[in-house]
Amino acid sequence: MRVSGVLRLLAFIFVLVTTWIFIRNYLNFSMKTIRLPRWLAGSAREETEVVKTKCDLSKPCPANFFAFKICSGAANVVGPSMCFENQMIMSPVKNNVGRGLNIALVNGTTGTVMQQKTFDMYSGDVQVLVKFLKEIPEGTLVLVASYDDPGTKMNKEIRQLFSNLGSSYANQLGFRDSWVFLGAKDLKNKSPFEQFLKNNPETNKYEGWPELLELEGCVPLKTA
Ligand SMILES: *[C@@H]1O[C@H](CO)[C@@H](O)[C@H](O)[C@H]1NC(C)=O
Repeated sequence: MRVSGVLRLLAFIFVLVTTWIFIRNYLNFSMKTIRLPRWLAGSAREETEVVKTKCDLSKPCPANFFAFKICSGAANVVGPSMCFENQMIMSPVKNNVGRGLNIALVNGTTGTVMQQKTFDMYSGDVQVLVKFLKEIPEGTLVLVASYDDPGTKMNKEIRQLFSNLGSSYANQLGFRDSWVFLGAKDLKNKSPFEQFLKNNPETNKYEGWPELLELEGCVPLKTA
């Protein structure tokens, strides 16, 4: 009786241990099979991060094109921003924007930033802007973003200089209009990269200012 009792106990322990080992292995195995798709999903997520577009454009630019995104300022509260080939040229974070017209010059062949400057068009000296626009060399891309008021001190000469860069709206730019534009020094036609919103109390998004504008695109690099 005692011997069979011990044997029964041993048999019971044996079954318990083998069951435990079996379950452990089985669980390990199923954990591996669960882990595999998770690992695959993880690497898929990394891949989508790799194809993130320059300047966060909605779709990537083809080879031999520069990616850009220009945002005008929002009312007189948030400053404008300009991204070119994934480089933030001007922005409130960089602390190099201001009220009026924010202008950046980029080499159209290499994509290198040459200059960025703000011109106060409400109370500033507009002759400084006239000189700046006249001295832009051939083959230069010109990026423009308005902030608060780009128009009060606009004159005929400045409108003409912007029109020569390919602008269609510079001739009607006025007090607190929103304007974003990319042109070039030696452009023969009107630039396709421009947006304009008139300050209109009937349609303004903000009290006293129209909505901010966002312009993105791919500009072909200039080949000699
Ligand atoms: C752009 O860069 C090229 C190569 O460095 C240079 O030859 C050309 O003069 C530059 N253009 C402007 C407008 O600065």
